[in-house]
Amino acid sequence: MPRINSSPQKYSRPTNILKTLFRLFTYFGKKKYLLILVVILVIYTSFANIFGSYMLGRVIDTAIKNEDSQALLTSTLTLIGIYVAGVICDLSYTQIMVRLSQSVLYNLRKELSIHNQNLPLSYFDEHNHGEIMSYFTNDVDTLVNALNDSFANIILSFCNIVGTVVVLLFINVYLALIIYVFMIGIALFIFFNTKKCRKYFTMQQSEIANINSKVEEDINGVRVVKAFNHEDDSFESFDKVNKAWLNASTKSFFHTQLNIPVIVSLSFIQFAVACVVGSVFLVNGWIVGIGALTTYLVNVRQSAQPFNFFTQHINNILTALAGSERIFRFLDEKEEEDNGKVELVKLGDANTLHDYKSRYAWSVPQEDGTTKLVPLKGEIVFKNVTFGYVPDKPVLKDISFYAKDGQKIAFVGSTGAGKTTIISLITRFYNIQKGEIIYDGINVKDMKLEGLRRSISMVTQDTHLFTGTIKENIKYSRMHSTDEEVINAAKIANCDSFIRMLPNGYDTMLYDDGHNLSEGQRQLLALARAALSMPPILILDEATSNIDTRSEKLVQKSMDVLMQNRTVLVIAHRLSTVKNSDAILYLENGKIVERGSNDELLKMKGKYYALYEGKAELE
Ligand SMILES: Nc1ncnc2c1ncn2[C@@H]1O[C@H](COP(=O)(O)OP(=O)(O)OP(=O)(O)O)[C@@H](O)[C@H]1O
Ligand SMILES: [Mg+2]
Repeated sequence: MPRINSSPQKYSRPTNILKTLFRLFTYFGKKKYLLILVVILVIYTSFANIFGSYMLGRVIDTAIKNEDSQALLTSTLTLIGIYVAGVICDLSYTQIMVRLSQSVLYNLRKELSIHNQNLPLSYFDEHNHGEIMSYFTNDVDTLVNALNDSFANIILSFCNIVGTVVVLLFINVYLALIIYVFMIGIALFIFFNTKKCRKYFTMQQSEIANINSKVEEDINGVRVVKAFNHEDDSFESFDKVNKAWLNASTKSFFHTQLNIPVIVSLSFIQFAVACVVGSVFLVNGWIVGIGALTTYLVNVRQSAQPFNFFTQHINNILTALAGSERIFRFLDEKEEEDNGKVELVKLGDANTLHDYKSRYAWSVPQEDGTTKLVPLKGEIVFKNVTFGYVPDKPVLKDISFYAKDGQKIAFVGSTGAGKTTIISLITRFYNIQKGEIIYDGINVKDMKLEGLRRSISMVTQDTHLFTGTIKENIKYSRMHSTDEEVINAAKIANCDSFIRMLPNGYDTMLYDDGHNLSEGQRQLLALARAALSMPPILILDEATSNIDTRSEKLVQKSMDVLMQNRTVLVIAHRLSTVKNSDAILYLENGKIVERGSNDELLKMKGKYYALYEGKAELE
């Protein structure tokens, strides 16, 4: 289950527009020069629009007025040429932008995915999983929409505004001034209304994120909700976020929809005023002729639209930039430290556990530049290890123990004592604050993570199965193993018989973390994974807790096979699993309070004895 510590996602304004834009720019890679082409094409499209309307006036005032058919033909053809070129440019930049933005999306998602894999576990402990998912979906999508649509449109609208302002000035300064007043009025209205739109849109987005989290939680917890008859409560809390969304989105739509009628009304008034005043100017001969009036009116008619477009697209871009900043913040999160220099090297092919130990070794760099090979044995030593998930709240205090080559060490203790924590430190899922963990005489801090983790086989407390066939899921621990090896491993883990009963046997597909299997079956598959893997250290975290007593006995036998010649660290609540360990460590509140063999501990009549008192007789 995800630990949800952080607050729901905030949809805010971008804080550093230039920096974010610059960083985004790098994602265009080698294709960034195409952006310059896009800008040129957009400018031409706008030019074709504005200049076309200007030319129209000229045609009327010269060719038509003077009844010059040759000039009329030439000007008409020129006009058609300008417009056709405009349409071609329009189509071209749209196509280029779509391709560019899709490749940015691809690159960004790729980087997000790689980074996601490289983050330390602590990051996932501290952050809302729904929020992380939204970087991959919502935020990337808004960015792509902005690139697809808004980047070019914003330049186009800007050029159209500038073009209209200039053309109007060319016709007549006074006529232009009247329209400028209207333009400023429209711009101010859009500016203030858009501020409101943004506010409610931001709220709406944040409520959508809340709805997503709620739905995710409801689906994951559906069994618990039903078991406790919490359907009504669950619906109520969903309804609360849904209502909050309704409120925000209604306001957001109200303000968005307000733009069109207000702008249309204002531009009607503007047009009426322009018609009257323009005609007065024409009648008095203050403008060249009817052509100039036509150009004037065409420009007046289309002067409001670019403002609307401009603000709309600026908004899209700001939202996208805020999303990009969230994505970049995520990408800037520190990845798992992997500064170790000691590597696990392969000296030959390994097909058995015995091979594995002799065919792999630690390659330790020496000061003189050479490397020394240290045999892979599987010995673990904890020296005064102190660790807390939050640095000043230690969960493990001064833990010391050793597990020699081939030994079986069991951890027991009450829930929350720190057993799982101890074993997650060996694979360096978390870094310790004090002490040392030594593996085959080498500090695990000095090992490369890849080799360290490859040399350990782990069955975690909660089994995770991936979407894929049963065979693929078992092979997860050793991708290149043969089908025969997979079946052998399944036999060792005692799951061969139930797999064969499934509709497609080993090729049965598992979906959604293998929820079409029982908990016990899922754990048996996890054991099969461990049986297939070769590493000399085996870590089992309560691997048998969900298996019935009859199967447990069988699995116990299989596990004995699995454990042979390996160093095993096992966490189990059942006496049968821990009984024949070389050493049993009893943990309480992050401290080892008792240690010894089963007999020694029972004789001691301490906590271990109390834990298994009575149970011992049952065995
Ligand atoms: N990812 C985490 N972030 C913060 N605290 C954690 C995390 N995992 C465990 N803890 C805390 O550390 C302590 C030890 O947890 P741990 O999982 O090691 O217990 P455990 O002995 O394995 O218990 P159980 O027998 O129930 O599995 C607990 O108090 C727990 O709340
Ligand atoms: Mg545990």
